[in-house]
Amino acid sequence: MRKPILAGNWKMNKTRDEAIQFILQVDNKLPKSGVDCIVCAPAIILRDLVKRADTIQVGAQNMNENDKGAYTGEISPLMLKDTGVKYVIVGHSERRAYYNENDAVVNAKIKKALEFDLKPIVCVGENLEERETGKMQDVLKSEINKAFDGVVFEDPANVIVAYEPIWAIGTGKTATTEQAEEACKYIRELLAGIYGVKTADKIRILYGGSMNTKNVNDLVAQPDVDGGLVGGASLDADNFIALCKAF
Ligand code: 13P
Repeated sequence: MRKPILAGNWKMNKTRDEAIQFILQVDNKLPKSGVDCIVCAPAIILRDLVKRADTIQVGAQNMNENDKGAYTGEISPLMLKDTGVKYVIVGHSERRAYYNENDAVVNAKIKKALEFDLKPIVCVGENLEERETGKMQDVLKSEINKAFDGVVFEDPANVIVAYEPIWAIGTGKTATTEQAEEACKYIRELLAGIYGVKTADKIRILYGGSMNTKNVNDLVAQPDVDGGLVGGASLDADNFIALCKAF
């Protein structure tokens, strides 16, 4: 049985005060079991949030793939570990598009995260043109195979994949339940091709892209959709509580 996840990706939003306020407001109202409730916050406030978090769990949005060195402005895996976070988003489409996070970098980051006992939330997904020209499966196949090339792990619960169709991110245009299920099921098949069915059945696969309190129930009711990675709708405390209560 896969434990569902509701992860908020705050992106470049919330000051330290705003974020602490959020944690204090939501933490005692979240379901205590049955779902992992996570916020992926800006790196500079992670430690402050971990200190105050009880039910809610905290993740990072990015991490450098090197242990340390001359990488001005970057955050190392050890620095993330030091904050107490358990999760890190890898390969978000915004990082792929704006910061040249290509498949090789994504692959290196996944390996590095696992080496440091951080659970990677690996994002994949096609853009609008790729969907409209019938290339969704090709894109997912390429991204998954390259992302997980040579990646080994003991516990499949420590690896999370997020299907985030780029055309649905921040657009208000959510994938239909059928589209979300089709893609997440296909991702599971790809993972089964690499790791075998038993392992793939234990990996949590999330949907992300304009998920909100209105569509969350239908999306997460799909057999291969194990939760959500939510951007805009995760910023508001009441919305976040409602999203977590969908499980
Ligand atoms: P929105 O929920 O704002 O569409 O963002 C989705 C996303 O990119 C989560 O990582």
